[in-house]
Amino acid sequence: MARAETAVASPHRLGFFATLRGDTWWVEPALTGFGMLVFFGWLTVSIFLDKWAFEIGPYISPVFEPKLFGAKDSVFISPALIVLVGPIPFRATCYYYRRAYYRSWFLSPPACAVGDASRKYRGETALPFWFNNLHRFAMYIALVFVPILWYGALRSFYNSDEIIDGKAVETGFGIGLGSVFLVVNAFLLMMYTFSCHSLRHWVGGGLNCFSCSAWTRTRKRLWDRITVWNAQHRLWAWTSLIWIVATDIYIRLVANGNISDPNTWGF
Ligand code: FES
Repeated sequence: MARAETAVASPHRLGFFATLRGDTWWVEPALTGFGMLVFFGWLTVSIFLDKWAFEIGPYISPVFEPKLFGAKDSVFISPALIVLVGPIPFRATCYYYRRAYYRSWFLSPPACAVGDASRKYRGETALPFWFNNLHRFAMYIALVFVPILWYGALRSFYNSDEIIDGKAVETGFGIGLGSVFLVVNAFLLMMYTFSCHSLRHWVGGGLNCFSCSAWTRTRKRLWDRITVWNAQHRLWAWTSLIWIVATDIYIRLVANGNISDPNTWGF
């Protein structure tokens, strides 16, 4: 005897926010959307806050790294706007952040098995989201920023300024809390970059044989390593985002005399 079956319409046909889910599915997209608004919002504002000091002694905010001397005077825009030509497209086209903003900001869809806000989803075949297909090229630029950020972090252990805020301070090698902030920042942004899906494919993709030569075996070993990091890509995305904001705020507060930095140079 034929078994009776009940047809259930899929959520996107039932309507916006319609779902058969009984869990609190909306908590994650709500928190994610709010978090992105706060942290990306701060970075956006920070880019234009170049009149509020962003460097002191050996420290420079990572938002302004590398420091483009004279850029502000010559082109009348914040130097951070120039240096973030690399990282902004990298984050904006990141596979993890795409998932996050499609769900949290565009509600398209808000979560798995929840009704979609958009009836005309065209994926990434039309502008502006077609640009997401260029993530690999943004990754190439982001790779350049890894040594740049490490340079800034390591430079923070050497103070060459003798006078800071009208006060004579020690010069030479030393360490301060700002140095620690900058090292952690460089590490987290490096891990975010090194755990990228595109980097993983670039290193290990397109190979038919992993064991055929020393070169392909090396690529396989590297691919294995990146695969482990890639599994935690969301973690690196969030920790690096939160930490660059924290580092930027910390260095600005020190540079503007709002707080003092414990360090061996005495400023
Ligand atoms: Fe997130 Fe490449 S997938 S940075």
